[in-house]
Amino acid sequence: MSAGTIDPAVADELTEIVGRAHVLCDPEITASYSIDWTRRFAGTTTLVVRPADTAETAAVMGVMAAARIAVVPQGGNTGLVGGSVPLAGEAVLSLRRLDTCEPVDQLASQVTVGAGVTLADAQAHVAAAGLSVGVDLAARDSATIGGMVATNAGGINVLRYGAMRAQVVGIEAVLSDGTVVSHLAGLEKDNTGYDLGSLLAGSEGTLGIITRVRLRLHPQLPERATALLAFASTDDAVAAAASLRRNVQSLHALEAVFGATMSLVSEHLGTPPPVGTEGNAWLLAEAAARTDPSEELAAGVEKLADLVLGAAVALEPGARQRLWAFRENVTEAISAAGIPHKLDVTLPAARLAEFVDGVTNVVLAADPDARPLLFGHLGDGNVHVNVLGPDGAEPRDEVDDEVLRFVASLGGSISAEHGIGTAKLAQLHLNRSEAELAAFAAIKRALDPAQLLNPNVLLP
Ligand code: FAD
Ligand code: MLT
Ligand code: ZN
Repeated sequence: MSAGTIDPAVADELTEIVGRAHVLCDPEITASYSIDWTRRFAGTTTLVVRPADTAETAAVMGVMAAARIAVVPQGGNTGLVGGSVPLAGEAVLSLRRLDTCEPVDQLASQVTVGAGVTLADAQAHVAAAGLSVGVDLAARDSATIGGMVATNAGGINVLRYGAMRAQVVGIEAVLSDGTVVSHLAGLEKDNTGYDLGSLLAGSEGTLGIITRVRLRLHPQLPERATALLAFASTDDAVAAAASLRRNVQSLHALEAVFGATMSLVSEHLGTPPPVGTEGNAWLLAEAAARTDPSEELAAGVEKLADLVLGAAVALEPGARQRLWAFRENVTEAISAAGIPHKLDVTLPAARLAEFVDGVTNVVLAADPDARPLLFGHLGDGNVHVNVLGPDGAEPRDEVDDEVLRFVASLGGSISAEHGIGTAKLAQLHLNRSEAELAAFAAIKRALDPAQLLNPNVLLP
């Protein structure tokens, strides 16, 4: 049920739990919780509740369950698939105030943090102990650890440490009826039944509200070398990516920007790429280690002599950042140009080049006025296909369906790292069988029988 007109008795109960300042009903204030980062997904709500901790979250869910009010859990609201905003009038449960970082467990190399801690704050907290978080992404200043687990976020270091699910060694969550489940000991070996952390990772707020997360941490790798490599063709870039993965043990990130996207981001930055202005594909490769990895990266790049058009290598933080800018600013450059449809897909390595070279025609066949922009995490086979319509408007909806069908026909995944949200609900069947979808629905019924948690997300 949507939040609708809030019963004053419900508002009073919520106020009793979280305080007057954290029950928001003024439409001017709730508006910012109702539109997503891309501006593509916008709804309305009459109720935003901002608990401070697990106990308050549990009590709030008790009230919501009794009043049968559906909720959209929200962290940093940087999600890109329309899963973090109230599109059907749901209440918003903002977890941002759960922002406590507990002391780092130096012996275990683990830390427990509140769901509302931003990635940047978690990174700074554990850096003081010489450790790092295994997942990094450009939205680090706003994206929260709870939201990152809920989406099983990927980012730029998956080829080294895995995605967010692989970082979770303990979880605390509130179920739809207000029950708290907590398993935060962080034991590396713990075969005592179902792994709720794994289940909640990628559940997109549909099974439980994550309130605390225990993260596996990794040693900091302060020595870095970064290379921007230009290629004439996708085939060459894909072959180079495979070679770098095989030959550079300290490889930490392997990102790609393709032709039209490089032109757009260069224009946005006001500077051309330092190499390969005539290229069609660029790889950004970063090596990281405790001791200087530049020789290892240079040896890896030398092996690419027959493939590469040009290479720019940087060792100092400022110079490395200038190379990273051509990748990290892509999302903002596209957003400045309009409201894209964001299709985030993975291809098997053997079909990657075929997809990258073929998808533009697939897009144009569905919408001749559309503008496809390709980039991504090539080391993981993850391509971001962003599509703008004419003058920055959205492209035709048929584009999504055709591109995702193309992905499925090549054996790929229609969501690599952003999730299904509301954006890809209609296409989930391309990757998941009826039997799998029935199992998903059974899990949802078991944990959220009244359909209160993000009822319009993930499950068709
Ligand atoms: P939100 O957007 O608030 O929510 C996302 C989903 O999680 C929603 O379904 C919501 O209901 C649910 N949710 C949020 N918090 C909780 C909670 N505590 N408990 C239960 N459910 C919850 N993503 C990547 O994977 N890789 C990238 O490289 C990447 N780069 C990005 C770069 C930019 C510039 C931007 C804007 C986004 C990027 N993203 C990327 C997408 C986004 O940052 C991630 O999906 C991130 O994990 C979302 O975190 P959030 O806190 O903003 O969650
Ligand atoms: C990225 O890799 O930059 C992100 O996933 C964001 C996006 O797809 O725009
Ligand atoms: Zn990404």
